[in-house]
Amino acid sequence: MLVRTSKGTKEFRAIWMEHGIAKMIDQRILPNQFRVVSVRTYKEMARAIRDMTVRGAPSIGAAAAYGMALAWQKGVDLKKAAETIRATRPTAHDLFYAVNLMLTRCDEDLVKVADDYADGVVQMCRRIGENGAKLIKDGDRILTHCNAGALATVDLGTALAPMRIAKRQGKKMFIYVDETRPRLQGSKLTAWELLNEGIEHAIIPDNAAGHFMKDSVDLVIVGADRIARNGDFANKIGTYSKAVLAKENGVPFYVAAPVSTFDFFTKSGKDIVIEERSEDEVLCFDGCRVAPKGSRALNPCFDVTPSKYVKGFITDKGVFRPGKFETLVPR
Ligand code: MRU
Repeated sequence: MLVRTSKGTKEFRAIWMEHGIAKMIDQRILPNQFRVVSVRTYKEMARAIRDMTVRGAPSIGAAAAYGMALAWQKGVDLKKAAETIRATRPTAHDLFYAVNLMLTRCDEDLVKVADDYADGVVQMCRRIGENGAKLIKDGDRILTHCNAGALATVDLGTALAPMRIAKRQGKKMFIYVDETRPRLQGSKLTAWELLNEGIEHAIIPDNAAGHFMKDSVDLVIVGADRIARNGDFANKIGTYSKAVLAKENGVPFYVAAPVSTFDFFTKSGKDIVIEERSEDEVLCFDGCRVAPKGSRALNPCFDVTPSKYVKGFITDKGVFRPGKFETLVPR
């Protein structure tokens, strides 16, 4: 991804490995500060996943792979490392997919396997971008939720990849960016990426989506954290209400995801575990308490959208109708 700072413009990935140390963009402090942090052990990696220094399903998958590589480098019992990494965040399927892959390849050089994994994610995102760009017409107004951009996917993005490729093809677009309460992945991260990429956009309060969907949105594209076999999928809290609004207003609703996000062992959305995060994320704003002392909060991090709301899943292998995933199942 293109990063513009006061020192100039440079290409970055969200996460990578250098001289045996994992490096990542600290996603907690963007857009006000740009900082690269170093992660040296699998325990530090588990912490970085849990506190969301690195976030977004495919980036979490790459972080899990690099965490396993760090454990392998230090001669740690890989089963123990796998257990710690699996316990960080329960919903994103990519994390479990990556840990399992590393365990099956444990007699190889795991740094190389993790690097290949991250490269593979970027290649899949490129193909998602090419497949998704075909759905974007010149002048389209697109709504997206949370951050399913390069930060969330090592590079390029899932929901944002079609927009990047469409822009390179010369298409004009306008993006409605849901701010995405409570952690503001939309207003802090997606807006930052679109600004760096020079794509026209505006941040909207989450509760303004219905207002704009009535007559100003042509397309919705979101990412996913876990897609069940029947096409129900988990994504950032608030996605479900956007899908219902899209259906009510006749706006096509697409989900962009690589094959690592598909969980073919989970039959339907009912079986997806939803992460609950700290109440403080809701009760406080930028570290400052805004709710009265004594009030409690509920903070489910994701919701499940039933497959009936999805027009298509934009994947690296093409665009699929909900539940018609037979050709995606690895043999
Ligand atoms: O809690 P987060 O920020 O990790 O949640 C991220 C999302 O919900 C994204 O939309 C999803 O991971 C898709 S990222 C390509």
